[in-house]
This record gives sequence, C-alpha cells and structure tokens, in this order.
Amino acid sequence: MDRVLSMSRCLVCGVDTPSFLSFGRMPIANGFLEAKDFEREHFFNLDVGFCPACKMVQLTELVERERMFHESYAFFSSTSQRMQTHFKAFAESVRTRYLADVSDPFVVEIGSNDGIMLQNFKGWGVRHLGVEPSANVAAVAQGKGIRTVSSFFDDELAQKILADDGQVSAFMGANVMCHIPYMHAVMSGIKRLLAPRGVLVFEDPYLGDIVEKTSYDQIYDEHAFYFSVGSVEDLVARHELELIDVEAQPVHGGSMRYTIAHRGARPVSPAVEKQRERERELGLERAETYARFRQNVERSRTDLVALLTELKRAGKRVAAYGATSKSTTVTTYCSIGPDLISYISDTTPIKQGKFSPGAHIPVVPHAHFAADRPDYTLLFAWNHAQEILDKERAYREAGGRFILYVPNVHVV
Ligand code: SAH
Ligand code: TYD
Ligand code: ZN
Repeated sequence: MDRVLSMSRCLVCGVDTPSFLSFGRMPIANGFLEAKDFEREHFFNLDVGFCPACKMVQLTELVERERMFHESYAFFSSTSQRMQTHFKAFAESVRTRYLADVSDPFVVEIGSNDGIMLQNFKGWGVRHLGVEPSANVAAVAQGKGIRTVSSFFDDELAQKILADDGQVSAFMGANVMCHIPYMHAVMSGIKRLLAPRGVLVFEDPYLGDIVEKTSYDQIYDEHAFYFSVGSVEDLVARHELELIDVEAQPVHGGSMRYTIAHRGARPVSPAVEKQRERERELGLERAETYARFRQNVERSRTDLVALLTELKRAGKRVAAYGATSKSTTVTTYCSIGPDLISYISDTTPIKQGKFSPGAHIPVVPHAHFAADRPDYTLLFAWNHAQEILDKERAYREAGGRFILYVPNVHVV
C-alpha cells in the first residue's frame, strides 16, 4: 500500500523524499492551447512527496520555469472581484502593521502579476517594485503605472534591487512562494535585502486545508511546495530568518499567511505555536496522513466520475465553469474529456477559443454559458464559489445546478 512511486531529493534539505501520490502523465496546468498544437503538448510526471526530515510536501519532478511563466501566461489575478478586495486588505494590513513608523518605506512584491496588490501601494504613493517574469501580465501592471520588472526573483536579482533601490521594508508574495523550487536562492536574496526591522509577508494555499478538504487539485506543475507552519519555520531558519506570525486566510480554498523577520528582530506571536499544535493534531508531520490523503483522493475521483457518467447516461447537458489551472489535474487524473463536459466557461480572454490542457475541452466566453444554460455545471473555480454562485443566481433560479467536488462531490 505504501509503495514508493518515485524518489527524489528534498528541495529544502536534500534528504531522500519518496512520493506518496502519483497522478501520472500531466500537461502544463495553464497551458491552454490551439488544436494545431495538440501534437506537441508537453507532459511530465505529476508526483508529490513528503520529506521525512524537514516535513516539506513537494513535487518530486519539476517542469522548467520558462515552460510555465512566459509572455503568454494565462492567469490574470484581477479576474476575481473578491480577490481585489482581499489584496486591498492584505496591502492595508502590511502598511499599518509594518510601515507606519518607517520613513520612505520600500515594498517589493514577488509574483505581482497584473498589479492586483501593488496598485494599492501606488495609490498611497509608497515606493514599490513588482517582480513578475510573465511579460504579458507584467505589462498590464506597467500599463497601470505600477513599477514592475519582468524577471524571476532570485539572489542575483536581489543584488540588483539592492544596488538600485536600497533595502526593502516589506517583501510580499501571494500564491508565488510555493511556485519557486529554488527556495534557497529566494530566501538568501530576501535575507540580503531586508531592512533590519523589515518583514516578508507571503501566503499560499495551506497544506492543512488541502489534506482536510481533499483539495488535490491544488497539486500541479506550478505548485512545487505545499507549505505548513512547521515546514516554513524550518525553511526560513536555515537563512537566519524567523517565522513571527501566521494567519489563516479564507481565499483559494484555505490559505496561510506567513510573516517572517530577521531572527530575533521582532516578537513571535503565540499564533505560531498554536498553529503548530493544530498541525500535530492534523498529523501533518506523519507519513500515514499522506497515505490516507491518497485514499481520499482516489475516492473523490470515483465519486466525480460516477456522477458525471450518470448525468451523461440520463441525457443531461453538462458544462464547466472556470478554466482553472487546478482543473487540469482533475480532468487528467479523472479522464474527464469533452464527452463528459462539453465546454468550460471562462472570462479570461487569452483562454477563450482555446482548449484545456490534456483533456482538450473547448474554453468559451461567459456569454456562451449564459445563453446555453446547461443542466449541470462543474465548478472548477470552487475556490470562488461564493462570488460565482451569487453572480449566477438567475441560472440557478432557472433550475441550473452546480457540481462541487471539494470537500466531497455534491450538487447545489
Ligand atoms: N500574486 C498573484 C499571482 C499569483 S500567480 C495572485 O496571488 O493572484 C503566480 C505568479 O508568480 C505568476 O504571475 C508568475 O509569473 C509569477 N512567478 C513565478 N515564478 C516567479 C519567480 N521566481 N519570481 C517572481 N515571480 C514568479
Ligand atoms: P483561480 O481559481 O483563481 O486560479 P487557478 O488557475 O490558480 O486554479 O482561477 C479562476 C478562473 O476562473 C480564472 O480563469 C477566471 C475564471 N473566473 C470566471 O470565469 N468567472 C468568475 O466569476 C471568476 C471569479 C473566475
Ligand atoms: Zn527536507
């Protein structure tokens, strides 16, 4: 049962790390493509492992970063209204907690995308810099007057920033730290640049939520790490940094915000130990937890495929909503293709008219969905359920149903 599927070296501590779950051959999660490119689609093995030493959950095979983050990156942060509100509050909390007593503060956001967070600092007249390798989304931010450099953040770029702009009062990152397998280059760059009382505040989907809710679709090429408080504490300590606060966030199905400072520079909140205790209860430090997670993932697949197959048999029209990167893991792992889901509705122009990675389900504009009104809609953007269910009240009142699969397969 606990068969070792593959083995690699832990990206953090170098210890042999066996995978506990293999999803098989997987395409690039955000690799929406045209029919002419089906033949040359790139695949890799999506396997996830647990390091027995530093407890970091991570991918055991990686995709080169240039294949994922480039000039036609498909994810634009500002497509969700709720995320705009979330990032405004994030920016406000950093400003009031950590910048109030700093004269001429300087903030750097890693993975700033279309400027969803930094637009707030720009509005307040705070010196800022976004670091965003995907040139097309970086250009949107630049178009809004947000100072953005289109590069990957690493130790080398950190030295350049230090020379050009000086020390950093606050580093921020959202849904990006987990994307960077070369974490030591990032942490040493941050250590070098951070002002004596400066902070790094970042958030990512939280391992505790992924395990508790069986949200296995958070696992895909871009997400090299699945962080917990324990593993982040260990990682930053290797760079003479210290985890001083943690705060759960309701976005993306359950995220954790981590605040980090130079070791000894700031008091450590009791929230850190409290969450560590919660992680011990959840068993995040034990391999058995991940064996159980795998069983839950297999059950989720069985239930979802059974429901979709039954709806098809009953002659129902079924579509999907939100061409998320997460959905690539679901469609590929569950073998859900255009026979079960006729199309995916999505508001992102760059995805429309293309096909989903691997499964090759057509991605259509929302107007198509609104006119078609399928009987059932599989909600791939389940992390935005509240926003979408509110928006689609008319569809639901007319009898349309949404299918969700987190934390289990159900219809609303
Ligand atoms: N922060 C935004 C975007 C998250 S998507 C949000 O939460 O909505 C992840 C972003 O990180 C992408 O725009 C990607 O291009 C960027 N990214 C990936 N690797 C990076 C690296 N090494 N340095 C900086 N940004 C990176
Ligand atoms: P999201 O779940 O944020 O990210 P990921 O790709 O990391 O899994 O993606 C949401 C997708 O859903 C994005 O392509 C935009 C789309 N979307 C809609 O089509 N309509 C909506 O109302 C919302 C909120 C999102
Ligand atoms: Zn390790």
